[in-house]
Amino acid sequence: MKMIPSFRPNISYGELNAVLLRILSGDIAGRVILQFEDRFAQYLGVKHAVNAPSGRWALYYILKSLNLKEGDEVIIPAFTYFAVPAAIVKLGLRPVFVDINSENLNIDIQKIEENITEKTRVIIPTHLCGFVCEIDEILDIAQRQNIKVVEDCAQSLGTEYKGKKVGSLGEVSYFTFGITKSFTTLGGGMVTTDNDELAERVRKNLAQLRQTSNKALFFKLLEGYSMKFATSPILFPIVYSIIRIFSCFGVDIVDCIFHEKERLLGKLPRSGRLNNIQAELGVMQLNDLDRKNSMRMKKGLELYQRLEGIDNIRIPLLGENAKNIFSGCPILVKNKNAIRRKLLAKGIDVSSGYMQDCSKLDVFRGFKKGCPYASRAEDKILYFPIYAELTSSELTYIVNVVKNLAR
Ligand SMILES: Cc1ncc(COP(=O)(O)O)c(C=O)c1O
Repeated sequence: MKMIPSFRPNISYGELNAVLLRILSGDIAGRVILQFEDRFAQYLGVKHAVNAPSGRWALYYILKSLNLKEGDEVIIPAFTYFAVPAAIVKLGLRPVFVDINSENLNIDIQKIEENITEKTRVIIPTHLCGFVCEIDEILDIAQRQNIKVVEDCAQSLGTEYKGKKVGSLGEVSYFTFGITKSFTTLGGGMVTTDNDELAERVRKNLAQLRQTSNKALFFKLLEGYSMKFATSPILFPIVYSIIRIFSCFGVDIVDCIFHEKERLLGKLPRSGRLNNIQAELGVMQLNDLDRKNSMRMKKGLELYQRLEGIDNIRIPLLGENAKNIFSGCPILVKNKNAIRRKLLAKGIDVSSGYMQDCSKLDVFRGFKKGCPYASRAEDKILYFPIYAELTSSELTYIVNVVKNLAR
């Protein structure tokens, strides 16, 4: 039986070792952060890139810099990460949850206009798993209604639409570089925009934060090494046994360890901007990004094609004219928990992910509403293994196991 982890970090031992050496030898001097920001902006085809402590704080500082008034409304897809509405609420703004399109799992463009009021100032579409959302239609609505578009690119660095990178299409965009992402600087994030004044305001706001200390980076590095080891071919069989034992008692041990409790954002961060070592890692990661993205994309498309049409399984519809980078590989199934257990019994670890129907979370009490397709997605979604190192034989194994389960 093959044992296939649901996830492998997108960082090599070489990159981790380079960070370790840099930490041990003291910070590197120079203007690496500005170089990284320039390279990042160039990669996306935008004028400005400003580094931030994370995706949620990037969003917070974007919204703050847009000079919105308390009570202004911000439209977001209901199926998202809780940190998105949390950043909105933190500024005294109102998140307006809009249901998703059941076919492509991104925000339903038909429902956006119904939710626009005289207080709507911003729409934040997400490109879920690196699958481009219906951005042309969203930009069109936004232009007609004089609303700003902030692209949530937390899962989509490298995704292209009509030859342009997402993150360069709206007024302003944000990215996150956490360890589990398809691009990582062991924490951090980025804001991108063509708007000179907005970039300046974001930069000014973020300049109050200190850079990540080398000590904090060292702990992130340890996390990186642990994830690498735990998902390596040698150690994963042990990790697999642990996951399996817990699953017999109905416990998702990985989720228990990594699930971030849904909550409002606490105090403003005092530090967390990228330091030179992270920026150097960012440059290394950018150099290899397109290769890794296209490897994942090829495998994701193959997996989707080979699983298409199987009973009780639904493959999300992919946007056209796009390069969808497959930062995740979501598949909708009936009886998610049962299927997950059966796949695990065959060595395939799939995950439920962390996106949820945020419109029903108690923490956003004042903004709750029914978003049936977002709820349905939460109940049915499983993220299949997708990473550059996934071998052809592992992919075929996954396809065969799923086909046998469907019989
Ligand atoms: C779609 C989406 N938006 C926003 C965020 C928030 O990013 P962070 O966790 O870096 O704050 C995430 C996190 O992964 C995300 O997936």
